[in-house]
Amino acid sequence: MTELTVNIKEKNFSYPIFIEKKPVSDLKEVVLNSVKNYVVVMSEKVYKIYGKILNFDNVFILKDGENQKNFKNYNRILDFCFKNKLKREDSIIAVGGGVVGDIAGFAAATYMRGINYIQIPTTLLACVDSSVGGKVAVNNSFGKNLIGAFYQPNAVFIFPEFLKTLSLRDFKTGLGEVVKYAFIEKSCDVDFNLLNFLNEHYTKILNYDSAILLELIRICISLKISVIEKDEKENGLRRILNFGHTYGHAIEKLTNYKKYTHGECVVAGIVFAFNLALNNNLIDKNYLFIMQDLIKKFDFKQIPQFDLKKVIPVMKTDKKATSDKIRFILPVNYAAVNEFLFDDLLTIS
Ligand code: NAD
Ligand code: GLY
Repeated sequence: MTELTVNIKEKNFSYPIFIEKKPVSDLKEVVLNSVKNYVVVMSEKVYKIYGKILNFDNVFILKDGENQKNFKNYNRILDFCFKNKLKREDSIIAVGGGVVGDIAGFAAATYMRGINYIQIPTTLLACVDSSVGGKVAVNNSFGKNLIGAFYQPNAVFIFPEFLKTLSLRDFKTGLGEVVKYAFIEKSCDVDFNLLNFLNEHYTKILNYDSAILLELIRICISLKISVIEKDEKENGLRRILNFGHTYGHAIEKLTNYKKYTHGECVVAGIVFAFNLALNNNLIDKNYLFIMQDLIKKFDFKQIPQFDLKKVIPVMKTDKKATSDKIRFILPVNYAAVNEFLFDDLLTIS
């Protein structure tokens, strides 16, 4: 077992992240060690595969899909917590991917002004990104994650064995966030040389090699920790974690969160950011080729180009936009990024 710690100094609050080699059949015993009464929020697919093995009580089953991260389900989860008489010292446990983690976390942040919240990520995306850092949210008709909070979990339990049953598409969506880390690593002030790691081990990664996946998760989470410990509420440095997301979120919105997964859109956003950086002489062609080569190795789904006239107005409504400027995180050097503001002709202002 590997244990990492997130330490949010301003709040004098820290929490552990356990990366377990144990089988998922041991999960309940490991997790409930520190929990009194609880409600579990679990995605439908995860419940079908693991419901019996996990054997949790008080399970709220959330249907699958990004559009389930909505107010109706948030209210249903709260009602379920009231019916199960959850008190302040009790816990909401999220078992699933980013959708479950985000909505269950938002319920935990607001139920009785905040109760304990435990993350058990079961997708690669949730293992390397969404389960850590406390961004919790639901979507509404104006966009994605627009209603939410920064609410850190009390603990995160990662059992990489879950990843074996992920569909290839869901696995690759997580790899989208992994690739993101590889290109921002130096700006996180950490040096694992993730780009090298990915180039060296991509075949093993695509073959779900347990030892390599464990190491990959450890590296990505360590990178995320180093950022959120310095900037929990995304006032500055944490914005680098949005690399690829300005364009990516716009594509997700333009396609109603149905056609492409979050990770696929992030990859499209990374490609867009590299081209924007090249056009503005921030990087040279060699670095663009390094990015293209990595994207090719993981054989990501190609997203057709969208008319910029349609994408720009959507990017302007992004949470990260400022007044009438679009905020982009762009590559500037090997594994390093910087923040830039662009006008609607996409020239640096
Ligand atoms: P997801 O939660 O929709 O999960 C994808 C699919 O995989 C679902 O059908 C789910 O039921 C299924 N699944 C989960 N675990 C499985 C397993 N072990 N075996 C088989 N199937 C399994 O998608 P995701 O990619 O995990 O997360 C995307 C969401 O995360 C988006 O809503 C995005 O906005 C959010 N997100 C949040 C943060 C954050 O910091 N909070 C960061 C990145 C993304
Ligand atoms: N996934 C971006 C963040 O946690 O800030």
